[in-house]
Amino acid sequence: MTKVANEVKALAIEGGSKAVPMLGPFPTKLGKEELWELIDMWDFSPAKKEKIREILDGETNLQGPHLFRYYNPKPSRVATAEDAMRELIGTKYCLAVNSCTSALIASYRALGIGMGDEVIVPAYTFFASAAGVAASNAIPVIVEVDDSLTLDPEAAERAITRRTKAIVVVHMRGAAGQMDVLVDLAKRKGLPLVEDVAQAGGGSFRGKRLGGIGSVGCFSFDHYKVMSSGEGGFVTTNDEWLYTRAQSWHDTAACWRPDRFARERREGELFAGENYRMSELQGAVALAQIRKTDAMLAGYRRARDLIVAGIDKFPGLSFRRLTDPAGDTAICLIMFLPSPEVTRRAIEALHAEGVPAGGVYDSKVRDWHIYAYWEHVLETKSVAADGLPWTAVPRPELPKYSREMCPRTLDLLGRSVHIEINHHYSDEDCHSIARGINKVLHCLLK
Ligand SMILES: Cc1ncc(COP(=O)(O)O)c(C=O)c1O
Repeated sequence: MTKVANEVKALAIEGGSKAVPMLGPFPTKLGKEELWELIDMWDFSPAKKEKIREILDGETNLQGPHLFRYYNPKPSRVATAEDAMRELIGTKYCLAVNSCTSALIASYRALGIGMGDEVIVPAYTFFASAAGVAASNAIPVIVEVDDSLTLDPEAAERAITRRTKAIVVVHMRGAAGQMDVLVDLAKRKGLPLVEDVAQAGGGSFRGKRLGGIGSVGCFSFDHYKVMSSGEGGFVTTNDEWLYTRAQSWHDTAACWRPDRFARERREGELFAGENYRMSELQGAVALAQIRKTDAMLAGYRRARDLIVAGIDKFPGLSFRRLTDPAGDTAICLIMFLPSPEVTRRAIEALHAEGVPAGGVYDSKVRDWHIYAYWEHVLETKSVAADGLPWTAVPRPELPKYSREMCPRTLDLLGRSVHIEINHHYSDEDCHSIARGINKVLHCLLK
């Protein structure tokens, strides 16, 4: 008999002593080194950094967080951010994801959109709204925007075919699409209305938050958005089935339903998905940002009102139509001038005055927000030899894509001057911006 066998008296399962009495406790995966990397990202003074370093060095057993939202021993920040977002937007369900592109694709897939289907998207939006359609193997149908710079409801209605499976309204540059007309159109046609709220987080239409009006809302929390966690996104909806399917798509169909390992409760609940999960780091930052949203919006709106009040009237000057001025996030002010030539000169002159002005469309400058540059779609590019999504329908039945297909959109965008608004602007900042605009427009539009 071996030594080990001699020592064994009784199996633990039969009341004997345990061979391994206890393992650990071990340090957590994340410790002070990881926390230091985070602290180092903030601009503390060197003296304060030194103090923090000393505190960290003095820690001998600092337990780091569990950065995965599921199976988390502590309340998940991602789940708390979902709760906060649900409350802010006023929907029954909310799902955190790692980007708005992911939110869009998860929503498209949850709506059952797939091969050979068509989805109506506006000609002015970041490419992701259309790319997500093609990545779902469906066909984006590009439609004009109107003077609100959001989807033109009449053009959208004309673009509906027997293949149409959804309409996407994009609340561009902080302001709502024509939600009353679009909700009515979607209802009449029995189509879901997807709200791309990437650029208008916190905005509203007639008292209802964007992302809580259509069938589903898709939010971006990338760096350039109203609320940001560097990268991140949310899906909001009142539809439990859509939420369940989006949740499955966002996590390889790991099926976080009430019971993760249960069999399908209903046809369409189980399928293979992808991984769009948000990490606890993003969740923590997103949570803080969601809580600040209304204060930030108040700052943007105050600044916008001061700037607008200070701008004189000029022949040939008009403003982007706001479908609900009170609900505009006011992250920017968009003015239309009489021609692209005057617009170009105005932007140069405004720049020289120090006004934070930019153009929206210049035929010589490539920009993924303008359909005319979406060669991926216009030239029906595909990632694989199967030619999808374009080969799913007979070629003559594909939309007639061309750079000129939405002339009204190009005309409006080519005459747009975009004034950036910061919610930290002082009164004097706003007055000087208005003064700069008046100075330039007096010369150019007299
Ligand atoms: C209108 C619109 N939709 C979708 C996206 C994609 O967002 P994300 O970067 O979070 O994927 C953006 C980002 O710029 C956007 O502006």
